[in-house]
Amino acid sequence: MSNIQLKNLTKKYGSFNAVDSINLSIKNGEFVTLLGPSGCGKTTTLRMVAGFIKPTSGDLIIGGSNMVGVPPQNRKVGLVFQNYALFPHMSVRKNVAFGLKMKKMQQSLIAEKVNKILETVQLQELSERMPSELSGGQQQRVALARALVIEPEVLLLDEPFGALDKNLRDHMRIELRDLQRKLNISTIFVTHDQDEALSMSDRIVVMENGKICQIGSPSEIYENPASVFVAGFLGLSNIFSAVCTKIIRAKKTIEFEGLTIEIESEKLNKSDKISIMIRPENIQIYKKKNDSKKEDFLGFIKSKIYLGSTIQYQVKIKDGPVILINANNSKILNYQDFDTNEEVRVHLSKNAIYPII
Ligand SMILES: Nc1ncnc2c1ncn2[C@@H]1O[C@H](COP(=O)(O)OP(=O)(O)OP(=O)(O)O)[C@@H](O)[C@H]1O
Ligand SMILES: [Mg+2]
Repeated sequence: MSNIQLKNLTKKYGSFNAVDSINLSIKNGEFVTLLGPSGCGKTTTLRMVAGFIKPTSGDLIIGGSNMVGVPPQNRKVGLVFQNYALFPHMSVRKNVAFGLKMKKMQQSLIAEKVNKILETVQLQELSERMPSELSGGQQQRVALARALVIEPEVLLLDEPFGALDKNLRDHMRIELRDLQRKLNISTIFVTHDQDEALSMSDRIVVMENGKICQIGSPSEIYENPASVFVAGFLGLSNIFSAVCTKIIRAKKTIEFEGLTIEIESEKLNKSDKISIMIRPENIQIYKKKNDSKKEDFLGFIKSKIYLGSTIQYQVKIKDGPVILINANNSKILNYQDFDTNEEVRVHLSKNAIYPII
């Protein structure tokens, strides 16, 4: 457990900035996720922290010491690769012991440490098997044990669950997070899976084109995205261009796609052109026959997708846009179901509209 600081960390390939002057401070024991689309610089950042890629400029401080120029084996960093990279000709036990052997540690001490970590990841019984005789999840745990046995101060994981099926992935997420908490080890986790990032992280770092777009807790990033890119990257959202047409103190009238609605925002000025985000779970649909409220819009169901716990509708608002709505499908709570082409009314509360200024 060590704190980690990335200061203006940059990696250039020729004139291309793979990682472009990023600043990030990770606390002792914190679980931080780098999230972003393919090619945004996640692996490059992780490998600079591990020591496999030399930064073009900037500093990397781990536990108070500047690590630039320090070789990987002297960094107290454990790295788990996306493809596990296990040694195919070595048993589970030998794979896990490898790092300690390289350090020329005494045999009896190696055996003790390997046994302890195999117990932690629940692999004692499989210790003599070869990697080819293990399931994906078991191989993943060997890779984790191999990274943890050297007692690193920092754990780096590059899309470790990419090859696992959904059930196993969900299970491994919980196992890894429990283990990470128990060992209180500062962790940088790389993924492009938004659910994984939201469910596991203390903080999420959203990256695009080698730069950091936003850093925050999962709820901050989801509910208060700093840009259209972040809003669109995390979860489903309706995003529209809007213009502010009227102001009465904090009450601002905005227009978008033919609709006019009043929201409350301190920041907005008249004639400002902004984007607005409306999360699909924050919009309600009702049967048309119910008394229409002032702020409701009429529309019809354009499409319907059954997702089990929710039903996802595309609703075409009359003289307005097509809007994505996620409706709860609880039979106990008696939520209503709608048919394709059915006329409905849509309730868009002002709190559902998040302006991205
Ligand atoms: N050795 C290299 N030479 C030139 N460009 C490179 C090199 N390594 C990586 N890049 C480029 O740097 C950018 C960042 O790569 P990186 O591997 O960090 O992306 P990533 O965010 O991990 O993507 P993915 O989700 O696909 O793994 C990419 O555009 C990639 O093509
Ligand atoms: Mg990568």
